[in-house]
Amino acid sequence: MKKISKLFVCLGLILLVSILSMTAISADVDKANIVASLGSDSIYQYKTPHSSDGIGKFYMGREIAQVMGHQGAGWLERPSREAEESPSKLISELELKPTDIVADIGAGTGYFSFKIAPLLTSGKVLAVDIQPKMIEILELLKQEKKISNVETVLGSVSNPNLPESSVDLALMVDAYHEFDYPREMMQNIVKALKPNGRVVLAEYKGEDPFIAIKKLHKMTQKQVKKEMEAVGLTWQQTKQNLPQQHLMFFQKSSQ
Ligand SMILES: C[S@@+](CC[C@H](N)C(=O)[O-])C[C@H]1O[C@@H](n2cnc3c(N)ncnc32)[C@H](O)[C@@H]1O
Repeated sequence: MKKISKLFVCLGLILLVSILSMTAISADVDKANIVASLGSDSIYQYKTPHSSDGIGKFYMGREIAQVMGHQGAGWLERPSREAEESPSKLISELELKPTDIVADIGAGTGYFSFKIAPLLTSGKVLAVDIQPKMIEILELLKQEKKISNVETVLGSVSNPNLPESSVDLALMVDAYHEFDYPREMMQNIVKALKPNGRVVLAEYKGEDPFIAIKKLHKMTQKQVKKEMEAVGLTWQQTKQNLPQQHLMFFQKSSQ
C-alpha cells in the first residue's frame, strides 16, 4: 500500500515538473515570437559597429547622423556661407507669399528664419529646435535684429510641437538627417501642415563625393524621396541650382 502511494506521489511530481517546464518553454517561445516580430516590424534598426558620425540607429537603410551641438553656432553663421551655399538663392526658390506661416524646423541659430521673416509681411516664422541653447541664441538674435515675426518653439526629438493644420511651409535646411525619430517627426510635421501645405528639404548632395561634408550629413535624392513618401507626401520637384545642396519640394494632399 505504502509502495503504491509513493508511486502516486512520484507520478504527481513528474506531472507537475513537466507542466511547469512546458509553461516555461511556451513562455520562451512567446518571448522569441515577440522579439522576432519587433525586429521585423520595427521601423528602426540598431547596429554596431557603426559610423563615428552616426548614432548607430538606422532608418530605411540610412544611419541617422549625430546632432550638431550648439557649439557649431559660429559655423552656421560664418560669413563665407553665402558664397559657399547661396542661401539667398535657396530662399528665392521658395516663392514665399507675404501671408505664409513658415516652420523652420531645426532652425539652429535662425540663419534662415531671420532672412525669411522680412518677406512675410503679414505672416511669420516658427523657428523650431530641440536644443534649449539654440533657442536662447535665437531669442538673443531676435532682440538684436529687432524682428518681431519670428517665434521660437522648443521641440522634442519626435515632435516639433506645432499646432495642427497651421503651417504653409515646413522648411528643413541641413537638419532632417539628424532627426533621431524621422518617421514620428515627419508624421507630426504633416499634421501641422495646412491642406496642400509644402515641405522643403535642403540636404547636401549625397551623390557627389566632391562635396566636403561628412557622409551621414549628406543625403541622396532617392533616399529623401523614399522617406518622404513613407509619410504620404508627394514629391513635386527638385531644384539643382544650389552649389552643394538638393532643394527638394514635397506636398501634403488636399484633405
Ligand atoms: C546643422 S544644424 C542646421 C541649422 C539651420 N537649419 C541652418 O541651416 O543654419 C541642425 C539643427 O537641427 C536641430 N535638430 C536636430 N534634431 C532635431 C529635431 N528632431 N527637431 C528639431 N530640431 C532638430 C539641431 O539641434 C541643430 O540646431
